[in-house]
Amino acid sequence: MAYGGATLGPAAAAGNSPAMKQVKLDKESELRIEVNVNSSLRLRLLSGTAEIFGTEMPPENWLIFPPRMKFAIFTWYGATIEMQDNTETDYVADETPMISYVNVHAVLEGRRKRAKASAGDADASQGPRVIVVGPTDSGKSTLSRMLLSWAAKQGWKPTFVDLDIGQGSITLPGCIAATPIEMPIDPVEGIPLEMPLVYFFGHNTPTVNADLYRVLVKELAQILERQFSVNAESRAAGMVINTMGFIDGLGYDLLLHAIDTFQATVVLVLGQDKLCSMLKDALKQKQNVDVVKLQKSGGVVSRNSKFRAIARNQRIREYFYGLSNDLSPHSSIANFSDLAIYRIGGGPQAPASALPIGAQPVADPMRLVPVNINRDLLNLVLAVSFAKEQDQILSSNIAGFIWITDIDIPRKKITYLAPSAGELPSKFLLMGSLTWIET
Ligand SMILES: Nc1ncnc2c1ncn2[C@@H]1O[C@H](COP(=O)(O)OP(=O)(O)OP(=O)(O)O)[C@@H](O)[C@H]1O
Ligand SMILES: [Mg+2]
Repeated sequence: MAYGGATLGPAAAAGNSPAMKQVKLDKESELRIEVNVNSSLRLRLLSGTAEIFGTEMPPENWLIFPPRMKFAIFTWYGATIEMQDNTETDYVADETPMISYVNVHAVLEGRRKRAKASAGDADASQGPRVIVVGPTDSGKSTLSRMLLSWAAKQGWKPTFVDLDIGQGSITLPGCIAATPIEMPIDPVEGIPLEMPLVYFFGHNTPTVNADLYRVLVKELAQILERQFSVNAESRAAGMVINTMGFIDGLGYDLLLHAIDTFQATVVLVLGQDKLCSMLKDALKQKQNVDVVKLQKSGGVVSRNSKFRAIARNQRIREYFYGLSNDLSPHSSIANFSDLAIYRIGGGPQAPASALPIGAQPVADPMRLVPVNINRDLLNLVLAVSFAKEQDQILSSNIAGFIWITDIDIPRKKITYLAPSAGELPSKFLLMGSLTWIET
């Protein structure tokens, strides 16, 4: 966790720092906090027990929350919090849906135990495959996180699958990804960026190329299926799948596609009756799928597009520099000829009727299009494919990202920032519309 360290007691936090205050929480209540946009927030658990989105707070250690973060400290039995008095907002709420959420966890826990006890039986040894769906800002990511942290606390290693290309809680926006959760998720630092399984879509909305999105979801599901077939422990722990808030039209089709592709067994619907009833209807033939409606927490904060853009930018900075500037990315120069950059899909579309019989339309969404290196690539974030050959690019996951910082046309040189020094794992790079401007 992002501990402030033992020296940062109230005395050290005094000086020019904001005044401190204590907040007493009754049992089953939560302290909802929005950190100031310009300054971080220091707080600690003084007495009792409390958790932040499913992860227990350490007693007495100071925690530092970055600007703009929104979160809640929930207590089952009562707690006292000591904190700086400089938040954007903070208030205590005693009405929360936490009991219903922890009841879901208890049901999942039972299913994991049954799966573990059925090792060897192909079907019964599969633990719950939970998918969390709902409109934008309904608390999907938060609920996913709580379910994962509670499971990890019990010693399971559930797989977290993030299908939300808008924000990226496992890796950068524009990607879908999966990673095992081995410990309750750190409330400040989030999920460690350790070798997740990542596929690059390249854009933060699926409408740009829905076919590609579907193909990548399928690739990811297939790899996980293979991993589960040889790993009884993660098979029994199951998965928690987080989705996008896009639930109408194409968004709804993509939800059904994800439920089907990952063979979800539990669909948790947050905060929308209509979506819940549509899904119940669509899935009524599938006897092993439970569709469960859950109340949205009154604490969930709506975030506008500007906030989301800032959060995406912040996420990219964090990838290269670390949450507290603790990483040292490396700038490298390559010849144009050393790199092969592609984008997927696109090209001018000819009407199908105008094409010779059997010909592919030019705008084939899965077409691999070589990209000419020019100044337009400046500030783009490119994904480094694990592909060894060009024909593997579409089905390959990615090793990481680089950020283009300079293009020298006369000398045919490209300067980029990478998380570490040394040669890139592959010369095949993927481009989408993901950009970053260092602020
Ligand atoms: N009980 C709570 N108290 C305070 N803040 C909360 C609470 N629950 C969630 N939040 C905050 O509200 C914001 C939105 O929640 P969350 O990200 O879970 O919603 P979402 O449905 O995943 O949104 P999106 O559709 O954008 O993916 C987040 O910043 C989250 O930390
Ligand atoms: Mg979310």
